[in-house]
Order: sequence, then structure tokens, then C-alpha cells
Amino acid sequence: MKTLTITKPDDWHIHVRNGAVLKTVLPHTAKQFARAIIMPNLKPPVTTVVQALAYRSEILAALPLGSNFNPLMTLYLTAQTELSEIKKAAETEFIQAFKMYPAGATTNSDAGVADISGIYSLLAELEKYDLPLLIHGEVTDPNCDIFDRERLFVDTTLTEISHKFPNLRIVLEHVTTTEAVEFVMQTGSNIAATITPQHLLYNRNALLAGGLRPHYYCLPIIKRESHRQSLIKAATSGNPKFFLGTDSAPHLTHTKENACGCAGCYSAHAAIELYAEAFEQADALDKLEGFASFYGADFYRLPRNADTISLTKTSWRVPPYYGDEVSNITPLKAGEEINWKIL
Ligand code: NCD
Ligand code: ZN
Repeated sequence: MKTLTITKPDDWHIHVRNGAVLKTVLPHTAKQFARAIIMPNLKPPVTTVVQALAYRSEILAALPLGSNFNPLMTLYLTAQTELSEIKKAAETEFIQAFKMYPAGATTNSDAGVADISGIYSLLAELEKYDLPLLIHGEVTDPNCDIFDRERLFVDTTLTEISHKFPNLRIVLEHVTTTEAVEFVMQTGSNIAATITPQHLLYNRNALLAGGLRPHYYCLPIIKRESHRQSLIKAATSGNPKFFLGTDSAPHLTHTKENACGCAGCYSAHAAIELYAEAFEQADALDKLEGFASFYGADFYRLPRNADTISLTKTSWRVPPYYGDEVSNITPLKAGEEINWKIL
């Protein structure tokens, strides 16, 4: 049996929510990953250190007994964020970064930033304290085609921020286009990107061809095949500017299978296995460990993990849902087989 042993990975972008959903999804992440960057887009958003520490306690309380999973917290950047909150965050060992959502770009982003020039003083403060800025990189102009929103954001807002704040550490989250990959490759080592399993495994036909399949709907939306090829190339290149971030984003099944379905794919149930499939298809399994376990830690200036995990080449069938019959989450590849299994 083929086995792959790698340093225990970390997930550098995940939504674990709170309440009942948190209890359903957290064990999946805690089983595979040592640490994860926890997104702050709760309702209401996590905007202060006090709120983030309370959220962290809720996550720790929801962990399976004996787990030493470490949630790395982030704060949601808004136009109302106080400069003093950035200093406070920098001085708190549990807060790793700020997350910026353009207002209205995605799930729970209403409190996000509408005018980037209005938050320059906040970006300067992040740069000063060397706190990473995590960006959802899409413009929200309703006249911009949804398939072009990331590319336009890179050309405009991101280019502007990177020039104005040359030492600001930035993670362009869940990149989905050739243009975003090229931008990250051309900039300095202070700019990196995460890549999700769904954007490595699927193109937009999975979402739209032969019927509308809402469980492939996430933001930024899955693009055409040529973009997927660029992402595969970046992820398997060994370039440390690209690392693992699942963007696992659970929504209850009925809110996705809906006339106005929510954006977000749930992938935490099989995250590392899904990446292993993508890397194997590209004949690059030897590059998985750097992408999954080294480069993110290096970028965040955290120690690499000491433990390992092992995967075997065994196929298993993903259940149709997680949760109970009434209230549940439909995972990526529900009812389908996955070829790798974590031991
Ligand atoms: C995320 C969510 O549901 O919180 N959805 C998504 O489609 N990725 C938000 C986000 O990261 O954009
Ligand atoms: Zn996300």
C-alpha cells in the first residue's frame, strides 16, 4: 500500500463558524491540522481583541478531548477599526493577522471596507506592527462581471496597496486566476497567496455544466480550466509564496440548495486528502509537504510543526452530509470516492 508521510500541515484560511456548526466541523480540521487561521466573518464580525479571545475560547471548548489543535485568530478590519486595536492585536500572542473584505464581496462582508483610501492609516499601522493583512481580493462593482472581479482587484486595489505600503505583509487569499498568480510571483517576499482544494480540482464546468451544482459555488467563483492550470502550476512549483488555505466555508445544505444559494464549499472533512489528489494528478506529490506544512508557517514566522501525519492510497466514500437529517452540511465530493485517506 502506498503511504505518504509529511510534517503535520496547517490550514492558513478557514471558516469554522460558531455554535452548533462549530461543533460539527471543528473535529475535521483538528484531526488533520496542527493550526489554522480562523476567519473572523461571524455575525457580528470579530473586530476586537476581546471578541477574538472569546471566540478562541469557544473554539477550544469545542475541540475533541485530547486535541492540541491551535486556532490562530484574526480580526475583521473595518473603517471603524481603532488604531489602538492594531497595537493591542500586535501585542497579543493569539492574534496573527487582520482580514480585509471589500464591503459586500462575500458571505458576511457587509461590515467590510467600501473605500480603501479611507483605511490607509490602518494599513500604515499594520505595516508598522508587521501584522499580516489577509485580503479577499475581489472588486464589488456590480458592473464588473463576476468572473473578472479578482483580476480587476489585482490590477487596481491590490497594486495600489502594494505600492503605497511596500513592507506590508499581505496574503491574497484563495487565488483563482492566472493574473493573481502572476502578481504574487512578481512581487516581493512580503506578498503570498493561499490556494483552495476546489480551485485546484475543478473548473467552472463543475459548477455550471449539465445542471447547476450549488456545492461548487464559492467566492471567488471557480474559473475556467486555463486558470486552474495556473493554480496547479503555482501550488506544485515549490515556490514558498503559495501555501495551503482550504477556505472551507460550511453553510447548511438548505441554504446552498436554494433559489439564492450561499457562497462557500465545505472541504474540512477531507482537506489534506483533496490536496493529495490534486498534487498526485499533477505528478507532484513530493511538493505537497512544502505547500501544506512549511511555507505558510514560514510566512507567518511561526515554527514548523514537529509531528507528522500519514496518508495511504485507499479509497473511501464521502458521506452525503455531516450533521443530522434536518440540519446538515453537504461536503465537497459528497457520495463520491476519494483516493487518499489520512490514517
Ligand atoms: C466564505 C464564507 O462562507 O464565509 N465563502 C466563500 O465562498 N469562500 C467567505 C469567503 O471567504 O469569501
Ligand atoms: Zn474564506
